[in-house]
Amino acid sequence: MSDSFTKGMARNIYYGGSIFFILIFLGLTLHTTKEMPKRDHRENITEAVERGKELWEKNNCIGCHTLIGEGAYFAPELSNVYQRRGGGNLDSFKAFMNGWMKAQPLNIPGRRQMPNFHLTDQEIDDLAEFLKWTAETDTNNWPPNDEG
Ligand code: HEC
Repeated sequence: MSDSFTKGMARNIYYGGSIFFILIFLGLTLHTTKEMPKRDHRENITEAVERGKELWEKNNCIGCHTLIGEGAYFAPELSNVYQRRGGGNLDSFKAFMNGWMKAQPLNIPGRRQMPNFHLTDQEIDDLAEFLKWTAETDTNNWPPNDEG
């Protein structure tokens, strides 16, 4: 028996390793596909939520904010802003959003600025509905605190 590393051994590690990680990848994909319907409460995606998501994309909110950890780290995480600023109540949150979006930019020296997007009341309500839906997805309690 040879004690050197042969081409055959390298080939077996290559194929064996590839198959091993492909199986893990397939297993995790299957797990995700099975778990998502339990966590994303897709039955609550109303037309308002859809419109809100479209506005979220069109105005590139994610260019500054994160949503469930994805996005830019310039401005606060917004997947829990519904709890943070609305206390989990839709009417309070819509009122907060309406005041917040219209008050921008705050022009407070030394504080980061958010632009004014000149949205209508309806559009702000739709964004609130989208952020509420996001807040209520099951993310294993992430982010860990209300300030996100
Ligand atoms: C150019 C960067 C930028 C963009 C784009 C942006 N924001 Fe902001 N946003 C900020 C900053 C900075 C703050 C924090 C401002 C402060 O605390 O004075 C903020 C704060 C907020 C808050 C309050 C968060 C809290 O915890 O009180 C909400 C809600 C919000 N943004 C929603 C949005 C939405 C919706 C959009 C897209 C329509 C958007 N933002 C796009 C920069 C941005």
